[in-house]
Amino acid sequence: MLRDSHGRVATDLRVSLTDRCNLRCTYCMPADGLAWLGSESVLTDEEVVRLVSIAVEHLGVREVRFTGGEPLLRPGLPGIIEAVADLRPRPEIALTTNAVGLETLADPLRRAGLDRINVSLDTLDADVFHRLTRRHRHADVLAGLAAADAAGMTPIKINSVLMRGINDHEGPELLRWCLARGYELRFIEQMPLDGDRAWTRDGMITADEILENLRHDFRLTPQPQDVRGSAPAQTWLVDGGPARVGVIASVTAPFCQACDRTRLTADGQVRACLFSRTESDLRGLLRSGATDEEIATRWRTAMWGKQAGGAIGTDTFEQPARTMSAIGG
Ligand code: GTP
Ligand code: 5AD
Ligand code: SF4
Repeated sequence: MLRDSHGRVATDLRVSLTDRCNLRCTYCMPADGLAWLGSESVLTDEEVVRLVSIAVEHLGVREVRFTGGEPLLRPGLPGIIEAVADLRPRPEIALTTNAVGLETLADPLRRAGLDRINVSLDTLDADVFHRLTRRHRHADVLAGLAAADAAGMTPIKINSVLMRGINDHEGPELLRWCLARGYELRFIEQMPLDGDRAWTRDGMITADEILENLRHDFRLTPQPQDVRGSAPAQTWLVDGGPARVGVIASVTAPFCQACDRTRLTADGQVRACLFSRTESDLRGLLRSGATDEEIATRWRTAMWGKQAGGAIGTDTFEQPARTMSAIGG
């Protein structure tokens, strides 16, 4: 098991497969100038599968989520998913993606064993999309989402980060769009993990602002805390349900006390917390010929030292060196 000294147990593994991306969302990456990981330092497909198998077979991980950068850019993704789906006990397999390229990949990924996807979509307007992501790929995202839906991936969750003065007027419209398609929308408070280090507490759209705006158009009923479990989103029934909307209030109402996550970067480092300032190297150990048990022991030690929480907004908070794109959310 991956226990920490604050009494939490990590059962949910998030694996970043690449630090690269085909978009440049302003809340995540700088426009240019990021130093990419060298190909030598990135884990091979076999190394990823070996580390995931240790997490599942020795450390009690039950859910594996692949992230990036953009995980669809990883050519070996279907093969990695297929190998992870063969592990016993079979973990639930999920993907967080921007959906560019999903139009052709949805079917192969579903056949390989992908259970569900979360898609980042912040706007329904192609021009706003370009302002937010610095790329003209809005149509690709919509086509990717439609393909995932047709491939039978349910539930599909949509992640939206609202940015002041850019897309913060779109909350109700995004919710209506998702309700019509049966997608579960979650709004996310922007966290200080951007490449430009431009985040400010006052600039961020808060959960309260988001909810106040939605309440002009929808009746929202809070769901009890036990429905939430260790999920980052607090949820509300929309107009009596069964449809829901979620808010991930990592800044104004952090869920750190219930966190059940462990993270692996594309270059094989364990991060105990999204906001960790230290990492533990599994790649070096793996490449030096270590046994599964030796690797599992280092992973346990890394997680035991997990910090209590992100502490955004406190005097001690310092933004980690890696941006969101190199951690994987
Ligand atoms: P589900 O299992 O579908 O609920 O996935 P998820 O919401 O954990 O994953 P996703 O990749 O869609 O992440 C949505 C948002 O939650 C992103 O902004 C993540 O950065 C954030 N998030 C995920 N894990 C953590 C965490 O441990 N701490 C904080 N503060 N935010 C997190
Ligand atoms: N704050 C909050 N969420 C972010 N994401 C990317 N950067 C940030 C940030 N700074 C979201 C993306 C994606 C998920 C992995 O994290 O929208 O859906
Ligand atoms: Fe790429 Fe996701 Fe970061 Fe946007 S949020 S730049 S889609 S990794």
